[in-house]
Amino acid sequence: MRRARADPEAAPSPLPVPTSVNEALALLTAGNYVAERSLATALFLALRLRRPLFLEGEAGVGKTEIGKVLAATLGRRLLRLQCYEGLDVASAVYEWNYSRQMIEIRLAEAAGDRDRDTVGADIFSRRFLIERPLLQALEPDIAGPPVLLIDELDRTDEPFEAYLLEVLSDYQITIPEIGTVKAAEPPIVVITSNRTREIHDALKRRCFYHWVDYPDAAREIEILRVKAPDAGRELSRQVVAFVQELRRRDLFKLPGVAETIDWTDALVQLDKVALDPRAIDDTLGVLLKYQDDIAKIRGSEAAKILDQVKAELAAAGR
Ligand SMILES: Nc1ncnc2c1ncn2[C@@H]1O[C@H](COP(=O)(O)OP(=O)(O)OP(=O)(O)O)[C@@H](O)[C@H]1O
Ligand SMILES: [Mg+2]
Repeated sequence: MRRARADPEAAPSPLPVPTSVNEALALLTAGNYVAERSLATALFLALRLRRPLFLEGEAGVGKTEIGKVLAATLGRRLLRLQCYEGLDVASAVYEWNYSRQMIEIRLAEAAGDRDRDTVGADIFSRRFLIERPLLQALEPDIAGPPVLLIDELDRTDEPFEAYLLEVLSDYQITIPEIGTVKAAEPPIVVITSNRTREIHDALKRRCFYHWVDYPDAAREIEILRVKAPDAGRELSRQVVAFVQELRRRDLFKLPGVAETIDWTDALVQLDKVALDPRAIDDTLGVLLKYQDDIAKIRGSEAAKILDQVKAELAAAGR
């Protein structure tokens, strides 16, 4: 039997993590995230087995959002580590607050009442430490272990990945001047990658992996219902069918879910209740972000796709 913690200042107990795939699905739905069952399964297993969730997928398919939604629906603190080339320990883990240390030294000198060793020990204490997301994630939190979102890991270099591997193995970080900081309870870790390079197997092995794919039409319509509620049914169905068709084309950069939502919002702003060739041409820059792609689709090609979309939707009986 588990003993209750005898903490007189007991905070409200953390929201429980899902105990089934259905609950994981419900959690994502509660955060306005329209998920497929395979994602809910990966999430459920990652949470239950306390493993990081590794999400890979094209740009704008909703990877980062999963981390944000988890933090919001579980009521946890969100710690986001945005990765980039050259990310180092000082930005990701901790750094000493040099200016405060300098002031402390000056004050000690001026007062003249402390010996060198005491001052030395003092300025390398927690008080002078600036904690970055990885270290913060190991700290206890009354709301429960935080959600650590390590976003776009493929942008960092391999030495950082190796460092991360160590942190995620033991959930501990060693600070030479202070000692080892170990999480009493591991944080909920979500890692995303756009796959601009392969992430090392050793890191992937420690995680539950899920490829976030483009949604099918039904799910994308549902996403619009949630994320662009002002769009009419006709417009949403046409937009989704149009975007789904574009994703079958040979384009340099296919539109993600983010672009579908933005495009719908733009069309709503223009008071559109259905697509027309002119509106498509005028707003194509919201959907496609490369001039070559825009040039390929704008005009007759867009009109052709629209006719095809209308015919398909009519045949589907709406
Ligand atoms: N399944 C979904 N349900 C609800 N909203 C979604 C879904 N997928 C994507 N979105 C929305 O699409 C937008 C983009 O999502 P997000 O930023 O998470 O994508 P991403 O995969 O992290 O993209 P990038 O690789 O460019 O960082 C967000 O506004 C998000 O709310
Ligand atoms: Mg992202």
